[in-house]
This record gives sequence, C-alpha cells and structure tokens, in this order.
Amino acid sequence: MTTTSFEYSIADISLASLGAQRVKWAAQEMPVLKQIRERFEREKPFKGKKLVACSHITTETANLAITLKAGGCETLLIASNPLSTQDDVAAWLVKEAGISTFAIKGESIETYRKHVEEALNFNPDLIIDDGSDVVATLLQKHPQKAKKLIGTTEETTTGIHRLKSMEKDGVLTFPAIAVNDSQTKYLFDNRYGTGQSTLDGILRATNILLAGKNVVVVGFGWCGRGIASRARGHGAQVIIAEVNPIKALEAVMEGYKVMPILEAAQAGDIFITVTGNRSVIDIEALKAMKDGAIVCNSGHFDLEIDLQALSQSATKREIMRPFVERFELSAGKGIFVLGEGRLINLAAAEGHPSCVMDLSFANQALAIEYLVQNQGKLENKVYTLPPQIDQELAELKLKSLNVNIDQLTPAMLEYMNSWQLGT
Ligand code: ADE
Repeated sequence: MTTTSFEYSIADISLASLGAQRVKWAAQEMPVLKQIRERFEREKPFKGKKLVACSHITTETANLAITLKAGGCETLLIASNPLSTQDDVAAWLVKEAGISTFAIKGESIETYRKHVEEALNFNPDLIIDDGSDVVATLLQKHPQKAKKLIGTTEETTTGIHRLKSMEKDGVLTFPAIAVNDSQTKYLFDNRYGTGQSTLDGILRATNILLAGKNVVVVGFGWCGRGIASRARGHGAQVIIAEVNPIKALEAVMEGYKVMPILEAAQAGDIFITVTGNRSVIDIEALKAMKDGAIVCNSGHFDLEIDLQALSQSATKREIMRPFVERFELSAGKGIFVLGEGRLINLAAAEGHPSCVMDLSFANQALAIEYLVQNQGKLENKVYTLPPQIDQELAELKLKSLNVNIDQLTPAMLEYMNSWQLGT
C-alpha cells in the first residue's frame, strides 16, 4: 500500500525498495512474531487505539510495527537513538507500510526531542518505549495527556530503572510492563543479541583483530556477560570491571580477570561499557589508557564514557574512518572513541539479529495486548508479564527451530508436587 496522507520525517523516501527486501529478510528469522501478527490480523485487538512506538528503526522494528498495525491500531514510530535509524527501513515504513515515521540517521538531539513531541501530539493510548524518554517527557511536560494512556511497555534495563524511580516517587500515573524483565527477553536479546552485535559494531567500525587483545568489559549484567563470552570466543583476553560483588564473583568463576577500572585502564586495548550508569569510564581512566586504546559503549545512553571531559582535555580531534574518532590527550597519545559513545551495535552495525528480536518483539506485542485486555484492572505500577507468556514464547521459538523437548511424566509431576517422599 502506498499512502502518504499522514505526517512523517525521514531522510529519503526513494530508499523504500531497498528497505522492502531487508525487512523481508529479517521476517524469515521472526516466525514467532509472524504467528502473533496472523492472529492479530484476525482478532484486531487494538481496533480504534493509537499507539506510539519509540524504538531503533531497524528491519526488526519494521516487523513489529506491521504486527501492531495488523492488530488494528493507528501507529506512529519515532527513533529511540539519533544514530541507529536505518533510513531505507524508515522509507519503507512510510511508503509501503503506511506508518507515520519520524527518524533520520544522524538526527540532532533537537530533532530527536522534536520527534518525541510529535509522538505526544499524536495523543497515544499506548506507548512502547525504549529508554523511557517518551514516558518521562509525557509525565514532565504533558501530564494532562497521560490521562488517556492505557499504559506503556519498556524494552530496556535503563528504561525500567527510570520507570521504577517514577513509581517510587509516586509520579507514574499508568501501568507499565517491563518487557526487559521477561526471561525470553533478557536471557536472549541482552546476552546473545548484545554479545554478538556489539562485537559486530566494533569490527565493522575498525576492522581490528580481536585475537590476543585485552578487552575490558565494564559491567557484568546480561549484556556484559554476552560480550565477554563472545570476545573470549574470538581469542581475546577479557577483563571485567564490576561494582556488584556477586556479579564480580561470578565473573571470577567464569575465568575472567576482574579488577577496578583504573587498573583495567592501563591493561586494556579495547573498552566496552554496558552498565547503564554515567561516567563509568571517567577522565582519570581515559588518561590512564595506553596510546591507541579503543573505547566504545553498548549501554542505552551515551553517558557511560565521560566524553565531555575527554573533549575538554583533547588537544586535537580527528575522524579516522566512519564511527572512529581520535582524541589526542598529550603529545602523541591518542584514544579512539567509536560511534560518538552511542550504542556501537546500532550505530556501526545493525543491532541485535532478527532471531533474538523475534522474542523481544513478540513480548512487546503481547505486552501491549495484555495492557489492553487488562485496561482498568492494573495499578500504576511496573509489572512483569505473566510467566505463562514467557513459557509459551519459548515453546513457539523452540518449535520454529525444530527442537523437541521432553515433558514431565505423571510420576515425575506427582514427585515434584509432593513432600512426603524422601530418602
Ligand atoms: N535493539 C537492539 N537491537 C535492535 C534491533 N535490531 N532492532 C530494534 N531494537 C534493537
């Protein structure tokens, strides 16, 4: 369908045919979302509803967007990051899918914020957020518009952290579903998705050899674990910097070296931040690094490396190749920053592969359905999707991968449910 009777802001609509092929390519790896889409097509659970989705505008998000539209809602998409938009996909969304899209790769922060305002002017009933910027703007600047909101869903660890702070401060005025907290999301997307795509971004940006390098991973959550194991698989020596003693102990027992960031700074060749916190690589650590160290981020926001202090300390800045900038610190000593400190997997590569986004976005689609089905019954709190949904999604994914598993026998079930039987 070709329609442009709605508002949009994209780079170049003539890229739509390129986007079409790539969206189709991704769809092959998203069978679970496809099944949900086919059911939505029949049942139209979102008829008459308006939905805003703030996400990375990728081939996978395009598949989510057409699923939501199949469910009957009027959908508006905005980019969740200035560097992650795939312009051909944005063009396809507008030209072929008929979805109002506001996303341009390389857009300024002002444009990004303008797009958030466009999204709120659309007066959504439902929001899919990625980092909680739309929800935070809604509550801070347009609280009256929040009155009609059925609820929001959130994709990221960072966004859920913000939502929980809103709940704690008593300012959350609608229910929120923490999609990231579904097991079929974080165990796969965060670990295998971020793990692979972060290295993909670093390699596409730099074309360096990882074997034999000292790779410092800052943060040993699910994303950090995924990156560390993939880097080790490439033959790198992995060092973990972590503030949580339990996670640090796990990293030790996984066979990684664990040390404070200032110590790691002197040893590392490549640094990757995935903590969700600010300035975890500060100017002191940057100054302690060896000449030629490569620094990047795969956490949600671009504040994990103190780039402001680095810019102030730099005597010279130079673009070496796309997504690689050299900052000269003292005579002859340079640090390379990748992708302006933004999510390197989405800035220099294409984000998580479709196979894991299938699960993440199936969760998103079902979370939106859950909000609609439970309208008026939920409190203004942060919820996790019921475990049955997680189980069902895992079963569907296994089926799509042609993997069969055993079931508990009646005798096993009886044993599991009893306490009398012992030694
Ligand atoms: N976040 C990480 N990877 C992504 C992708 N491929 N599409 C949308 N959001 C993402």
